[in-house]
Amino acid sequence: MRVLGVETSCDETAVAVIETLSDGVRVLSNVVASQVAKHAPFGGVVPDIAARLHAEAIGVVAQQALAEAKLTVRDVEAVAVTTRPGLVNCLMVGLGWAQAFAVGRRLPLISVDHLEAHVYSAMLPEPGKGTAWALRPPFVCLLVSGGHTAIYRYDGPGEIKRLGRTVDDAAGEAFDKVAALLGLPYPGGPSVQKAARAGNPQSVELKKAVIDGRPYDFSFSGMKTAVLYHTRGRNAPREAPLLPGIKVEDVAASFQEAACSVLAERAVKAAIDEGVPALAIGGGVAANERLRALVKELGRKRGLEIVVPAFAYCTDNAAMVAALGAAYLEKGARTSIAVEASARSEVGA
Ligand code: KG4
Ligand code: ZN
Repeated sequence: MRVLGVETSCDETAVAVIETLSDGVRVLSNVVASQVAKHAPFGGVVPDIAARLHAEAIGVVAQQALAEAKLTVRDVEAVAVTTRPGLVNCLMVGLGWAQAFAVGRRLPLISVDHLEAHVYSAMLPEPGKGTAWALRPPFVCLLVSGGHTAIYRYDGPGEIKRLGRTVDDAAGEAFDKVAALLGLPYPGGPSVQKAARAGNPQSVELKKAVIDGRPYDFSFSGMKTAVLYHTRGRNAPREAPLLPGIKVEDVAASFQEAACSVLAERAVKAAIDEGVPALAIGGGVAANERLRALVKELGRKRGLEIVVPAFAYCTDNAAMVAALGAAYLEKGARTSIAVEASARSEVGA
């Protein structure tokens, strides 16, 4: 079955085409138009601008996805689309486009949850490395992005359980806020990582918050406040100048070490406690080199298989949407053409 996937939940307009195989999946194309540069001057995603840019890009991105797959609209057998969670105005652009395509071509439409799709992306074969699944359920997945931070147990489409989550900031949001405090450019994750390479990760002590009775939950707001106090002085406003002698690289390295080690430790603990053989990571923060290294080091020590997807499958993309949609369709699931977009996820809630 050939499925076209559509993803417009945040600031990437993405369309992909996949083909299901008896024992794997072939990603025929995976096109992403990023809006990051357009939002950078505002220090974050501006929802109205994002929705308008999706509307401008979606047709061209879809055309490119079909061209790269060497297919025409006639070859597509189903349409999968992210309907939740995300910025509703943005989701509605992709959904409206997918509904029109499905109605026009008389194809089944299947609705996909963005978070389950991120988890599912860990199963996709690496680009250029064949069509065999990289991983099969059951597994535990640490999902760390700009909007979400959670640990899931995955047993297959629709069989997803949230084991833990952040009680305040998402990990990527914390990276972005710490970068802003340090005067590093947006998006903060890559700039903190770059600065951290020249810093000492042990120079600033940042406590890992423990949430009573919730061993797989996270809290990053305390770490962020500690960085503010360390760099500007106690109770200082965030506009205050950096204190003399503050080395941005050292603070970046210390924050990265504290944030990544708490993520890695709790994800490994969850996988061991659940008794699954494998741990995967996904989401934009899964691009972080220190997080990747720590998850591998701590996980392998405990005998876990560690799956770190290709960068293209860590960040927002439509291959994960198309592949998960195909899996639902193969299970017999169908979505009403009148499905609505929602800001909230129903996954593991
Ligand atoms: O998954 P994603 O592309 O978008 C969503 O939030 O859905 O994640 C973006 C987040 C941003 O907060 C960005 O700062 C963070 O991922 N990020 C990183 C790195 N690359 C991107 N955080 C830490 N280290 C990185 N190398
Ligand atoms: Zn995402």
